[in-house]
Amino acid sequence: MVALDKPDAESALRLADALQGTGCWMKVGMELFYAAGIPVVQGLKSRGFNVFLDLKMHDIPNTVRGGARSITRLGVDMFNVHAAGGIAMMSAALQGVKDALEAGDAASEPIVIAVTQLTSTSQAMLNEEIGIAGTIENAVVNYARLAKRAGLHGVVASPLEVQAIKTACGTDFVTVTPGIRPRGADAGDQSRITTPKDAVRVGTDYLVIGRPITGAPDPVAAFESILEEMSE
Ligand code: C5P
Repeated sequence: MVALDKPDAESALRLADALQGTGCWMKVGMELFYAAGIPVVQGLKSRGFNVFLDLKMHDIPNTVRGGARSITRLGVDMFNVHAAGGIAMMSAALQGVKDALEAGDAASEPIVIAVTQLTSTSQAMLNEEIGIAGTIENAVVNYARLAKRAGLHGVVASPLEVQAIKTACGTDFVTVTPGIRPRGADAGDQSRITTPKDAVRVGTDYLVIGRPITGAPDPVAAFESILEEMSE
């Protein structure tokens, strides 16, 4: 999945056009969606891309239910909520999907996943700022278990936690992992990172990669070299 963190539709769709035919998904996050909104999602869908709408909802259950209903109507293939919102909130997201499908407002059912701990969160931040005791892995696995109990399809986590999540929640439980850095790339603000090769090795289902592609002088060449690292 390419994280299309671009400030406007033109630059996002230019990159999407360059990557058409590769089979990658497009991840639309806050920067692009808040600037370019629904038309950019439709532009990606009309070009044949699967779209992960990464808006990380975290609100009271009734609001998340309505938000999920609206997102499902857009026809995206995946969206997410924060596991920190709890089981009632995560279940409400699924209810919102159901509402849209039952009303005939949506053609397909999106995959719904929960953010566990952001890949920018370090062990010290978790304990000292966020106020959760114990290891990152435990915190992530606890949230993954909650997401599974709520009926969600999977979670967003770092590749470093994929094996523990699969052990706790089963191999079918989907893992979507940002925090991927090809050999020699800059970590930026990410803390819990691995290479594409290691992410594949631990059994990640979807690798999310942004700046190593979007910030490269030749994004298509960067994308292809990541595919090569993955196939190693
Ligand atoms: O540029 P980079 O490869 O770090 O991009 C990672 C993408 O994944 C960003 O769009 C970021 O918002 C997103 N993300 C993340 N950690 C999460 C969930 C999403 O980095 N836990």
